Amino acid sequence: MRGCTLAGVFCLWMTLTNGVNIELMPPHPLVNHSALLSVTQISGSVWSFSWFRGERARSQNQILAYNTRNNPSETTGPLYSPRFSSFPNASLGISNLYSEDQGNYIVQVVTTNGQERSSVQLLVYALVFKPVIRSSSLYPIANETISLTCDTTNAEKIRWGRSGKIFPPGVIQSSNNRTITFPTIKPLDAGLYWCEAENPVSRRTSDVYTLNVYCICGSSSELSAGELSGIIIGSLLGILLVGGIILLLLLKRCKPPDGEGLREGSSYITVI
Ligand SMILES: *[C@@H]1O[C@H](CO)[C@@H](O)[C@H](O)[C@H]1NC(C)=O
Ligand SMILES: *[C@@H]1O[C@H](CO)[C@@H](O)[C@H](O)[C@H]1NC(C)=O
Ligand SMILES: *[C@@H]1O[C@H](CO)[C@@H](O)[C@H](O)[C@H]1NC(C)=O
Ligand SMILES: *[C@@H]1O[C@H](CO)[C@@H](O)[C@H](O)[C@H]1NC(C)=O
Repeated sequence: MRGCTLAGVFCLWMTLTNGVNIELMPPHPLVNHSALLSVTQISGSVWSFSWFRGERARSQNQILAYNTRNNPSETTGPLYSPRFSSFPNASLGISNLYSEDQGNYIVQVVTTNGQERSSVQLLVYALVFKPVIRSSSLYPIANETISLTCDTTNAEKIRWGRSGKIFPPGVIQSSNNRTITFPTIKPLDAGLYWCEAENPVSRRTSDVYTLNVYCICGSSSELSAGELSGIIIGSLLGILLVGGIILLLLLKRCKPPDGEGLREGSSYITVI
């Protein structure tokens, strides 16, 4: 103690460099697997130690305590579960991890050199599921607002791509990248899209999704107001007569910009 007061700076340096440290093994533990909270940089030999869960090293937060001079050495605390185990080197093992095990863990170690404490934030990871792309519309019509969603779980990062062509510049990504929106979709936007989901323990890519863009039928996608209203009246009659199926037949896949593996729509009916 006197050494400390005489050379306070040196004493602080000693505490920092000699402090125990907790190393997670593996660094990104997986749900249903085990983890070791390994205590490193212990100076002197271990007399006793305690593990706590939570923000403070309080008795109601204790998982277990270990004392080399007792038999048995280990005593359990209020937060103990048989999935926890202690090792003589002060490390804590957790088997069959739950995502609820996430949180702050504190170790307090008493050695021949005194008492030291350290804490660690335990995060429990799960593998991402293979993403599936969903479209807001089965038959996207030119100039409509269309969005694609990357359905997956446990992802921390999502990335979108397009096969063989550059990604359309006007596309809006949601803040978490889960959804991309084409504010007014164009025939040029038709193509092959994929998304990739990632977290620190895994990465999966979706199957390629073929985005088609349809036009109201006619030899070109440009329609006069008269033609358009004729078609609308015609399709309303069609719905009344034979149900909604006719509407689908009124749609024709727009001529894609180039092959891109798309078949060109060919058959359609005009009702008028
Ligand atoms: C973890 O194990 C439980 C019970 O065996 C099982 O239901 C669950 O799907 C598993 N979770 C993962 C991510 O493997
Ligand atoms: C503590 O003991 C466990 C079990 O024997 C071992 O896996 C771990 O590596 C040890 N930790 C240190 C820091 O030596
Ligand atoms: C969103 O996507 C961009 C580029 O595609 C990427 O740089 C960014 O990290 C992604 N963010 C999230 C939260 O996925
Ligand atoms: C889509 O919008 C463009 C530009 O506003 C217009 O020229 C075109 O006729 C529209 N196409 C359809 C199918 O409505």
